[in-house]
Amino acid sequence: MNAAISPSAPALIFGGARGMGAAIVRRLAAEGRPVAFTYVSAPERAATLVQAVETGGGAGLAIRADSADPEDVRLAVETAIERFGKPGVLVINAGILMSGAIDQFAMDDFDRMLAVNVRGVFAAIRYSAPHLLDGGRIVTIGSNTADRIGSPASSVYAMTKAAVAQLVRGAALDLAPRQITINNVQPGPVETDMTADLMAYIAPKLPLGRIGKPEEIADLVAWLTSPAAGYMTGASLTIDGGWTA
Ligand SMILES: NC(=O)c1ccc[n+]([C@@H]2O[C@H](COP(=O)([O-])OP(=O)(O)OC[C@H]3O[C@@H](n4cnc5c(N)ncnc54)[C@H](OP(=O)(O)O)[C@@H]3O)[C@@H](O)[C@H]2O)c1
Repeated sequence: MNAAISPSAPALIFGGARGMGAAIVRRLAAEGRPVAFTYVSAPERAATLVQAVETGGGAGLAIRADSADPEDVRLAVETAIERFGKPGVLVINAGILMSGAIDQFAMDDFDRMLAVNVRGVFAAIRYSAPHLLDGGRIVTIGSNTADRIGSPASSVYAMTKAAVAQLVRGAALDLAPRQITINNVQPGPVETDMTADLMAYIAPKLPLGRIGKPEEIADLVAWLTSPAAGYMTGASLTIDGGWTA
């Protein structure tokens, strides 16, 4: 039994206006999927991306939704379904990075990290899963720091991404009876706004001698949503240029 979803089944991306999320939106739209995506701080980039998707002959929808607010997440699922119908693909990319040593990290920042990077991921799965098409695909964007941290001031971020990896394992078991797969992509350094200030420090340390491109992460996400990946679920796949090898 391999209940693959249709290649034109809609996709919903949490955090799609820029960085890796935008590359994932463009990639899934180019494959022929209508793509709804959320944004919180970048309305202009969201509108420009919808325009680009439509110019390419696809269908796009930008929805303002703060992943830290579960009600926003629930409404985003509802809005996406109203426009495109039940999703076949769900990608949860929205995430934040706040750095700080363990003895200095502010409690409010800790709560914010959990709200976006952990509860936001849970809410997206919780509210989307009942509507996902059987045979559907869920992909979360974690981080290679879930396995090995490698630099100071990253404990809280790494903890949130380790939580995502474990959430995915358990969710895989719950969703398997419906042939829905869920996997976690764990990038290392990728060229986006999030890492703009860190690149000079990181680049020389990368075994492959370069930083990843958002499109390379989108390629892996696209593979995970393809029929070829039907037997993979509950996995965390690290893609980091050898950083944690
Ligand atoms: N870049 C890296 O080297 C790297 C490495 C490992 C893992 N990651 C992970 O990859 C994912 C994407 O990161 P990126 O590098 O593309 O970062 P980015 O350029 O900073 O983009 C962050 C994305 O998350 C969205 N987002 C942030 N807070 C949100 C909130 N409260 N509600 C809804 N959306 C929110 C942003 O939406 P707006 O555009 O509306 O602000 C944007 O789409 C994150 O989960 C990050 O932790 C990144």
